[in-house]
Amino acid sequence: MEKFLLLLVLAGGCHAFLPPTETKCDANQDTSPCSPVVGGSVCIKLLNNATNYKLKCFKDDFLFMTCNRGNLDIVEAYKNRTKFFIGTGTLKITNVERSDTGQYKVERYNPDGQQENNIVFSLQVKEDIFFILVIACLALGAVLLIVLVVCCICRKKQQTKSKGSQVVLNTPADK
Ligand SMILES: *[C@@H]1O[C@H](CO)[C@@H](O)[C@H](O)[C@H]1NC(C)=O
Ligand SMILES: *[C@@H]1O[C@H](CO)[C@@H](O)[C@H](O)[C@H]1NC(C)=O
Repeated sequence: MEKFLLLLVLAGGCHAFLPPTETKCDANQDTSPCSPVVGGSVCIKLLNNATNYKLKCFKDDFLFMTCNRGNLDIVEAYKNRTKFFIGTGTLKITNVERSDTGQYKVERYNPDGQQENNIVFSLQVKEDIFFILVIACLALGAVLLIVLVVCCICRKKQQTKSKGSQVVLNTPADK
């Protein structure tokens, strides 16, 4: 069991060295929810160029970012892992958390100050499938190893048993 736990820790460690998975989505074209993985990053194209726009980004009605003609303001809770590329209108969230799952809404005002259609999209954060696969493989390997060991022990026991009976049974027939 201890070895198994060690393997798990090793797998987690190895996984940490792999580049985090990046998911790309387009809020204006995608119809299905955007599905980044836990710990990965996600880039969401909101509009082509936000330079002259005023944007207000909400997650489940919580205002987390405003971008007013190039002036970016991100709330403290999001600052460390949220970027907005104004020139390409792309929002990037790194180190995605399960709690990022939700409905997003971006209110936008065009260069004339008129409000245009909201941009809406949803995030559906999923578990990191690669990590799950590694764990599953290790678990399977551990089970196989245990089965193998148990089989070996059983066989040895049987061999000693049958050896004993062979001695008794075969001795008269041999001679
Ligand atoms: C953001 O990063 C700074 C410096 O690394 C840290 O002090 C601060 O607690 C972080 N803020 C959040 C909300 O995680
Ligand atoms: C975005 O628009 C601004 C002003 O119209 C322009 O200067 C800038 O080059 C554009 N950015 C891109 C990536 O097209």
